[in-house]
Amino acid sequence: MSGIDKVGVVGGGLMGSGIVEVAARAGVDVVNVEVSADAAEAAETKVRGSLDRAVSRGKLDADEAAAILERIRFVDDLEALADRDLVVEAATEDETTKLALFTRIGGLLTSDDAILASNTSSIPIVKLGAVSGRAEHVMGVHFFNPAPIMQLVELIPSLTTGQATLERMRGWVTDTLGKQPIDATDRAGFVVNSLLVPYLLSAIRMYEAGYASAADIDRGMVLGCGHPMGPLALSDLIGLDTVRAIGVSMYEEFKEPLYSPPPLLDRMVEAGLLGKKSGHGFYPYQEN
Ligand code: CAA
Repeated sequence: MSGIDKVGVVGGGLMGSGIVEVAARAGVDVVNVEVSADAAEAAETKVRGSLDRAVSRGKLDADEAAAILERIRFVDDLEALADRDLVVEAATEDETTKLALFTRIGGLLTSDDAILASNTSSIPIVKLGAVSGRAEHVMGVHFFNPAPIMQLVELIPSLTTGQATLERMRGWVTDTLGKQPIDATDRAGFVVNSLLVPYLLSAIRMYEAGYASAADIDRGMVLGCGHPMGPLALSDLIGLDTVRAIGVSMYEEFKEPLYSPPPLLDRMVEAGLLGKKSGHGFYPYQEN
């Protein structure tokens, strides 16, 4: 047994709220911390909405959905993480923000072997460990969007992560969450984004250069390669700011031009066209 019964999740955005739902559905007691009371309320609305959809599709019993919500506390104070066995940080993909969080949370956790993990896609885990004051208990645990559906979790130990931390985390992911882990090295992009992000950026460059319409690029990959969705729709789902941030981190690490975000992606992010979550990206979206 992993001995991980009390979990904290920092951030209630797309990934944070998904991880909160996954953990609470697995029977775990969860505290979700956001930056303000409004943001905490918005996170609660996201989780409620997702559970309501599952109930209306007949995939979840209404009583079960209520019990899942009972297991979650949505708060705006990091101090609420003090008694957690595991904290998963899922804040914005920004190194300064994450370093500040790891410094603060590392000093808050009361249990000596509590694990502090990051859902980062590309920021070096070793740096997060170094500022936390508990590097042996820091690692990456990378979920995929939509977290309740995607089976994969990447496990990323850094040079300073203890073997016991990695194995406890593996046990929690497989036995408690019922998900399937793969091991990755602490290099920007890990396994999946190292392959996925250059593909997404290539599709954006192709669209920017006017080779084909967004719909035809996406139809090409769905109908020609059997992907569940095309690269531009997938970029919208992930969030264009997140795709850009991962590309920037990977470019900084490897200096490989394929990882460098194209100007169109920069301009869209600057314009607030962030994809599905903002209502507009390569495609328009309506609420629900
Ligand atoms: N939350 C929970 N369940 C969801 C959901 C969500 N956000 N979105 C869809 N689902 C469920 C639906 O309820 C449905 O379940 P049932 O079949 O049991 O009823 C199922 O998923 C299929 O949904 P839909 O019929 O509405 O739509 P779809 O068949 O087009 O599937 C999809 C939607 C699951 C998102 C599918 O298109 C897909 O797999 N896309 C690829 C997603 C992907 O590649 N994710 C990885 C992104 S990379 C990443 O996350 C890492 C990173 O660091 C950037």
